[in-house]
Amino acid sequence: MRFDVITLFPASFDALSVSKIWQTAQATGKLELHTHQLRDFSTNKHNTVDEPPYGGGPGMLISVEPLVLALESIPRQKRSKVLMLSPQGKAFTQDRAQMWTQSLDQLILVCGRYEGVDERFIEGWVDECISIGDYVLSGGELAAMVVMETLSRLIPGVIGDPTSVTTDSIQSGGLKYPQYTRPSEYRGQKVPEVLLSGDHQKIEKWRQKQAHFRTLQNRPDLLKEPDILPPQLRGQEE
Ligand SMILES: C[S@@+](CC[C@H](N)C(=O)[O-])C[C@H]1O[C@@H](n2cnc3c(N)ncnc32)[C@H](O)[C@@H]1O
Repeated sequence: MRFDVITLFPASFDALSVSKIWQTAQATGKLELHTHQLRDFSTNKHNTVDEPPYGGGPGMLISVEPLVLALESIPRQKRSKVLMLSPQGKAFTQDRAQMWTQSLDQLILVCGRYEGVDERFIEGWVDECISIGDYVLSGGELAAMVVMETLSRLIPGVIGDPTSVTTDSIQSGGLKYPQYTRPSEYRGQKVPEVLLSGDHQKIEKWRQKQAHFRTLQNRPDLLKEPDILPPQLRGQEE
C-alpha cells in the first residue's frame, strides 16, 4: 500500500514513525508514505495557497490550483483513490478500512486547513470525502494519520500475530473482553479468578460473556439485537 499525503504540514507525519510497527512495515516494503508540501505548488510569489471565500464569510479557503497541481505531480498506481479529509465526509469505519486495504494499492489523502478547500477541487478531483468523527479539527493531518494507521494494521504481515487484529474491538463485531497482566493483585484489586484457573473452556466462556456485556453497555449499536443475549449467556447476567 502506498500512501501519498498532500499537506501544509508534512513534518506532522513524522509522528507515525515513532511506532515500531510502522517503521517495520516501511522497512519491509509493506507500506510507503510520501508527503507533498502543498505550498510547493503555490502559483504566486508569496507562496500562499489560501484566498478569502467568494460571497464573504469567516476565514480563508485553500485554492483549487495548488491542490490540482499537487495531485497531478503524484505518480498514480492502478488501484488508487483520492480522499479528502473533511468533517462533512462519510464516516470512517473499520469496514471501510478493510475494504480499502483489500481493493487499493494507493491512497492519496488531502488535508484541508483554515475553512477548508474550494469546492471545485472536491467536485473535480476527489473520489470520496471522509470524516473521522463528529468533531472539528483545525486540519486534516491528524485525520489522515488515523486513516493510515488503521489501514496499516490490516495489511497482511504488518502485525505479527494476525489473531491480534481479528480479535480487536470493532473488527470482531463488538468490544473486546477486559484483559489483565501481572501482578495478580495490585493495591487490593485482584485479577478475576477464572483467568488464573488454567481452564481454557471456562476462560473462553467468561471472555465471551464479558465482551458481550461490555458491548451492550458501551456500544449497543454494534449488536444486531442489543436486548437479546446469546443462548450461552442467558441466566448469567450477574
Ligand atoms: C476547521 S476544518 C474546516 C471545517 C469547515 N469549515 C466545515 O465547516 O466543514 C479544517 C480542516 O480540518 C480537517 N478536518 C476537521 N475536522 C475533521 C474531521 N472530523 N474529519 C476529517 N477531517 C477533518 C479537514 O481537512 C478540514 O478541511
